[in-house]
Amino acid sequence: MAPNQLPAVLFAALAVILALAAPLRAGDPDMLQDFCVADYKSLKGPLRLNGFPCKKPENVTANDFFSNVLAAPGNTNNPVGSAVTAANVEKLPGLNTLGMSMSRVDYAPWGVNPPHTHPRATEIIFMLEGSLDVGFVTTAGKLFSHTVCKGELFVFPRGLLHFQRNNGGAPAVAISAFNSQLPGMQPIAMALFGASPQVPTDVLGRALQIDGGLVEAIKSKFPTKY
Ligand code: GLV
Ligand code: MN
Repeated sequence: MAPNQLPAVLFAALAVILALAAPLRAGDPDMLQDFCVADYKSLKGPLRLNGFPCKKPENVTANDFFSNVLAAPGNTNNPVGSAVTAANVEKLPGLNTLGMSMSRVDYAPWGVNPPHTHPRATEIIFMLEGSLDVGFVTTAGKLFSHTVCKGELFVFPRGLLHFQRNNGGAPAVAISAFNSQLPGMQPIAMALFGASPQVPTDVLGRALQIDGGLVEAIKSKFPTKY
């Protein structure tokens, strides 16, 4: 090999190594500065990027890193009997680029946090009050389930379908941590029956092996958002 070809070969090898390493990253990308407080105002302009642009450092204050959003219980007076309150980058701008966020989940007696996924994060749940039956399902269709009592933890791997049920007659509270500033949450029933435009009834009928009338009846319980 000619000596002047060496840098090109090294560069190609490096590119391959980086390409192979990229999918192994488990959470949000690493930060490149001390902080990058999300500048929500600039999002009203034409700028679009993966994440939020940074506020000018001279305009950053301690308040950008503070929130009391998890202090108050969510309202569990709804058909599923649970409420998720998120403390992610949309509520706490100082989280931008830090690769983490939290949520608080309140459960009415016997309330359920319905099956859902977080496409961008693994979740670890800590029982603050009460106890839950929790579970996640692997891509091979295996259910891993456990009872989690006050002071205990359970992990839901990134992207996998999971749920919780309050297994007692008193309210329960859990705190969840995520390795993403914005984990995303896709409740399965909403995605299937409340999408807009709608997922075709015959597709759902075939997929779930039920008749179209039943699909329509379920759709009527999930009003579309858009
Ligand atoms: C619980 O599963 C949550 O997403 O907060
Ligand atoms: Mn979850």
